Amino acid sequence: MDLYCVMGNPVEHSRSPWIHARFAELCNQPIAYERRLVALGAFAEGIAAFRREAAERGDRALGCNVTVPFKFDAASIAQHTSERATLAGAVNTLRFAADGDIHADNTDGIGLVNDIERNARVPLAGKSLLRIGAGGAAAGVLGPLLDAGAARVVVANRTVDKAVSLVRRHAALALAHGASLEAWALDAVPGDFDLVVNATASSLAGDAVPVGAQVLRQGALAVDMMYGPAAAGFLQWARAHGAVARDGLGMLVEQAAESFEIWRGVRPPSAQVLDELRARLAAA
Ligand code: ATR
Repeated sequence: MDLYCVMGNPVEHSRSPWIHARFAELCNQPIAYERRLVALGAFAEGIAAFRREAAERGDRALGCNVTVPFKFDAASIAQHTSERATLAGAVNTLRFAADGDIHADNTDGIGLVNDIERNARVPLAGKSLLRIGAGGAAAGVLGPLLDAGAARVVVANRTVDKAVSLVRRHAALALAHGASLEAWALDAVPGDFDLVVNATASSLAGDAVPVGAQVLRQGALAVDMMYGPAAAGFLQWARAHGAVARDGLGMLVEQAAESFEIWRGVRPPSAQVLDELRARLAAA
């Protein structure tokens, strides 16, 4: 059996095992996908144990997804890191090659882009975009948003220095695309936007949305990178101000689809699986 897993702490909430099992079923891929709780500070040991235990059972461990808080540790154990994961400074997908080497990648950003462009049917080329937040979860998505051709990207964060350093790290990419890339304080964001992406933990904390509603252009798309109760406050705010609101469930499924394709070379029917997951969660 070819074996994959998601590693995190906590990890019991992860929807990845269900998503990948469904991809495998629909694509006729004979894989198993586990959930593995890894002790804090012991990520490398967690990887080694996963590979060793699979081998002892006669299975082949071929890769894993990495979630909070190990996205930064994951980069340091890989022999090869993709350009987008290097730029993100974070890793969510590891592939174990036949020669034993570990290849690290980050599919979070392309997952967000694919959800916006394919599922929400909003092309990003030429659009103006506000990203609220500059923490770990947000780091991976800036590069792919620039690659998708956004004309103007603003990063606003409570701690402005973090937005500034994220913008600096992506300055060459923005220049290569001819895009404008700026860092601002939350209460000083200039202008309005076609797309507003919330990557802050403010909804989770039950706090108000940390930017004014004037950032929402008429008919704007407002996306929270989280889903469920953690996204509710932001989505409510967006709808109340006339925006089209979208949670992070599509991003979750689309980043998984990218990982699945990296591992198996097969593109799973992600839109179908997203519909099914949404229906499951609504019925729960
Ligand atoms: P994650 O890995 O989920 O991104 P993180 O790295 O702690 O977690 O980042 C959380 C993000 O939410 C940060 O951008 C944080 O702002 P700071 O960099 O100033 O800490 C933002 N955030 C958290 N609570 C917030 C609040 N009440 N208002 C505004 N921003 C908030």
